[in-house]
Amino acid sequence: MIVKRQAIKLIFGAGALMLVGQLLMLRLLRPPVPFRLEPVSQFVNVTAAIPLPIILLDRAVLTQLSDMCPFCNLQHPVAFASLYKHIHEVQSLQSVLDASGFKSTILLNTLPVEPAAPKVVRDVPTGFLIAKDGVVIHLVLLHERADSYWWFGAVQSDFGIKQKLLDFGLPGHAPTLDIMIDEGAVDRFKGVLVEVQGLNLMVPSSINLYLEQRSSDHFIECSHSRAAAFFDEFGDDDSSEALKFKHKAWKLLTTAKQVLDQLNIPFWLSSGTCLGYYRQCDLITYSKDVDLGIMASDYSTNLIPEFQKRGFKLKHVFGRINDSFEISFVYDDLKLDLFFFYREGNSIWNGGTQAKSGLKFK
Ligand SMILES: *[C@@H]1O[C@H](CO)[C@@H](O)[C@H](O)[C@H]1NC(C)=O
Ligand SMILES: *[C@@H]1O[C@H](CO)[C@@H](O)[C@H](O)[C@H]1NC(C)=O
Repeated sequence: MIVKRQAIKLIFGAGALMLVGQLLMLRLLRPPVPFRLEPVSQFVNVTAAIPLPIILLDRAVLTQLSDMCPFCNLQHPVAFASLYKHIHEVQSLQSVLDASGFKSTILLNTLPVEPAAPKVVRDVPTGFLIAKDGVVIHLVLLHERADSYWWFGAVQSDFGIKQKLLDFGLPGHAPTLDIMIDEGAVDRFKGVLVEVQGLNLMVPSSINLYLEQRSSDHFIECSHSRAAAFFDEFGDDDSSEALKFKHKAWKLLTTAKQVLDQLNIPFWLSSGTCLGYYRQCDLITYSKDVDLGIMASDYSTNLIPEFQKRGFKLKHVFGRINDSFEISFVYDDLKLDLFFFYREGNSIWNGGTQAKSGLKFK
């Protein structure tokens, strides 16, 4: 009896398994639903009528732009962007979309995105989710920062994000978005108008450059509250000497970045310059120099000549390429120290040599 019952269970179990298997097969065999372009076309037309300038930022589409059907296999909301400075037009966008049968929700970040008002934490519009007929559009609001780059927020900084994503049929836990998974930044770029599957769209004028920027776009906001606490305790040096130093150091940093970017060498703020960023979101005015770090393995023989071409004078070369290498340049009376770093197990290290004594430190 018991044996029989188990046998029935087994048969039933196998039947259920087969059914699951068949359903799975059906799912696999069913062709994926083709991406519907109509709502995107309508969205583009609505923005053009406002007018609100938008640009296509979706990497999946941009990488296939020369193919027949760049939108066809899209698996996530299609990412567009507009500039935050057009916020008034963006606000009218929502009512126009509403009238055209689109559903939309605003994404907010509760972060101080304006360094000038570091203590004010408020809801800052960072984007929209827009949907119609099963097609979801993710409109990112790019915030202009400093004078050379655009910042974008992270969806997870919106306290209500889980429900918003679910409302748009997207997984609430791990959002499948092309952008705004993390806070990020890209250098400003220009757009060009192209025709994609019958749509007239603005895309980044150099798609390769844009894609490259996106591959390392993670942005870490400086802690303005830590800086404010530091200045409260120690004061800020606003003497003309200090301001002159900052001005020169910015110019040096900007030029050094241009040289290193052009050589495709990743770099970071090192030593005192890094401390200044961390502690006070600024340059330490009494340090009188700028320190950058790069991996020794990224060294290129073009490095010194390229810096020299841009007006840097070579001052010292310490160590060897494979050990404690360091190059110092002088640019407009300021010293730039380039420290080379070495990987060793789970850590990286750099050397330093005291110019006067020749003493080496690791
Ligand atoms: C958008 O505008 C273009 C050009 O005016 C037109 O051909 C197209 O049909 C419009 N798309 C929608 C969905 O209305
Ligand atoms: C660096 O290279 C030199 C010569 O090629 C070699 O003698 C020395 O041991 C190397 N030093 C390190 C730390 O690998």
